[in-house]
Amino acid sequence: MSQSECKLRGKFITFEGIDGAGKSSHLAAAAALVRDQGRRVLTTREPGGTALGEKLRDLLLREAMHRETEALLMFAARREHLEQVIEPALERGDWVLCDRFSDATFAYQSGGRGLDREKFAQLEQWVHGHVQPDLTLLFDLPWTVAGLRIAAQARARDRFEQERADFHERVRLAYLERAAIAPQRFAVIDADQARDVIQKWVEQTILVRCL
Ligand code: TYD
Repeated sequence: MSQSECKLRGKFITFEGIDGAGKSSHLAAAAALVRDQGRRVLTTREPGGTALGEKLRDLLLREAMHRETEALLMFAARREHLEQVIEPALERGDWVLCDRFSDATFAYQSGGRGLDREKFAQLEQWVHGHVQPDLTLLFDLPWTVAGLRIAAQARARDRFEQERADFHERVRLAYLERAAIAPQRFAVIDADQARDVIQKWVEQTILVRCL
């Protein structure tokens, strides 16, 4: 067996939650933790993560479109991301920490927009039937809290952040539903807690479940 065949595949960890849940800053801290354990880590995001994916992200965050177009573009960006970035990194033995993945499409396009779930399932199977995250951290909190956090930030809101409260609550419920279907993959935290409490939980969860 060659050296590359012996090499252990890296871990694939995704960070999910409604807008304003705080997942992105916890991703950065988690990357530092995993690096401290001597692993090579790649941090990335969806939609995006490749040159083409970032162009699609720009469209997705700004242009109004049919919900199926939205879902197809999310998966188109994901196809590139898997092929160019995620799969090669995991095969090299690197860990991949990704800000959102297909659970976001389930939550936002199916839960939020009402995309047919069978169509979601077909796209997921088509684009990455063979790959799922090893661990998905879901930062859960009500929109009443998350929306206030976003309102306090001095920056323009994207197309999703501008949606009404009922949209965000549907996204939240869809995330929780998805977590309940795959409890072995998901870990869910109440994200309406002090930042250091959540960070400790993130560290513990990764140490226990992946290292
Ligand atoms: P987000 O991680 O919130 O970016 P930022 O932290 O820079 O605001 O992602 C951008 C938006 O894209 C977010 O509102 C959720 C949305 N989204 C979907 O609707 N479906 C998807 O499949 C993905 C990956 C993201």
